[in-house]
Amino acid sequence: MGEQNRETFGSRMGFIFAAAGSAVGLGNIWRFPYLVGMYGGAAFLLIYVLFILIIGIVCFIAEVSLGRYTKQSNVGAFKAIKPSWAPVGLIGIIAGFMILSFYSVVGGWTIYYFFRAIVGFGFADPSASANLFGGFISHPLYPVLLHALFMGITIWIVYKGVQDGIEKYSNIMMPALFVVIIILAIRSLTLPGGEAGLAFYLKPDFSKLTGESLLAALGQVFFSLSLGMGSILTYGSYLNKQENIPFVSTVVPIMDTLVAFLAGLVIFPAVFAYGFEPGQGGGLAFVTLPAVFSEMPAGNIFGAAFFFLLFLAALTSAISLLEPVVAYMIEEHAWERKKATLIMGAIIFTVGIAASLSNGIWSGFTLAGKNFFDFLDYVSGNILLPVSGMLTAIFVAWVWGSKNALKEATNDGTINFSWGNLWANVLIKYVAPILIAIVFLSSVGIVKF
Ligand code: PFF
Repeated sequence: MGEQNRETFGSRMGFIFAAAGSAVGLGNIWRFPYLVGMYGGAAFLLIYVLFILIIGIVCFIAEVSLGRYTKQSNVGAFKAIKPSWAPVGLIGIIAGFMILSFYSVVGGWTIYYFFRAIVGFGFADPSASANLFGGFISHPLYPVLLHALFMGITIWIVYKGVQDGIEKYSNIMMPALFVVIIILAIRSLTLPGGEAGLAFYLKPDFSKLTGESLLAALGQVFFSLSLGMGSILTYGSYLNKQENIPFVSTVVPIMDTLVAFLAGLVIFPAVFAYGFEPGQGGGLAFVTLPAVFSEMPAGNIFGAAFFFLLFLAALTSAISLLEPVVAYMIEEHAWERKKATLIMGAIIFTVGIAASLSNGIWSGFTLAGKNFFDFLDYVSGNILLPVSGMLTAIFVAWVWGSKNALKEATNDGTINFSWGNLWANVLIKYVAPILIAIVFLSSVGIVKF
């Protein structure tokens, strides 16, 4: 099973920041606010928090426990307990590979927008902003070069290893991210006219809660906590045997939810203060906000801070997407870390080039009616993550056995885990797999609400 000189995190905070870095990403700052905007403001927020509690934390504990027990990353962890389940780990590896290839392209966009914000966007009208965005992402060269830069930084950090790379940089980037988001939230909340945004965000409108919004909330919980592709499992495998799994597995989802909540506090008051529309979908961060920053006093500083925040969030998540792929090559194919990082990083980068070009010159090439970028997003997020997440929950509960998992999670019963029995007998056994199955079946159109 686990090899002798396996790397580990140097401290509890190292694990917490790295795992929070994985969880806090574009999903929190870019995707979460626009889902709130589309699906009923605070009512969506409440449901989201409920799902974090009954499914997010539950699956998080399962992944960390499985990783730490086996001291293996994705494929090896399943293999160590029951070899016939190894393909489930492979689904996660493939999902991570696909997600990173387009996630890094978006990471590149954040770099462009950071510099563009410093110069000043200089337009008060979202249609000019939409033109800038459309023109940039469809350009054949610039987004590809920035994707190369973003991927290069990701590769560098993973290349340095667990303590000298992932842990060291997460320990710097996560506190920086918290500082920036708090400053931005204060700025936004003190803008005249921001109250309307706050009301929209915090006053629940339950009439907007449909089956579709429940599913969107559940899917977002999964994506946001980085579950279902072995990032958390792999980080768990670097966790010290003395650590308190229920504790760290609760703190990280709380941090993740807090950042998503703060992102809404940054975005909605500012959007309303300047009279823009909140329900802009995916264009909220890259189209609406640049127009907001154009209007705001010192908007170039706040705009640059916002895109720097988005960059940091994307980078720490990208690291956690590359690491399981690299760990898999190290463990299953006996590659050196350096070789695994460079080669796998280069392949993912190449796939990402196609993803970037599919927003422009290659947009004519479609798969299942989607350009390549959207296809990667759809297959990984709507199919691979929920399938592997559901199978992981089933595996932990029924194959490894939730009693064994509970033993690992509580360090052989020496740690107080007050709802441990509920976790082992109900939540991981029934609630999590069934709810994830429902999301999956509906996202591929088999079940309709
Ligand atoms: N959790 C990240 C986000 O919210 O942006 C995205 C992500 C990272 C998903 C790592 C899955 C993953 F394994």
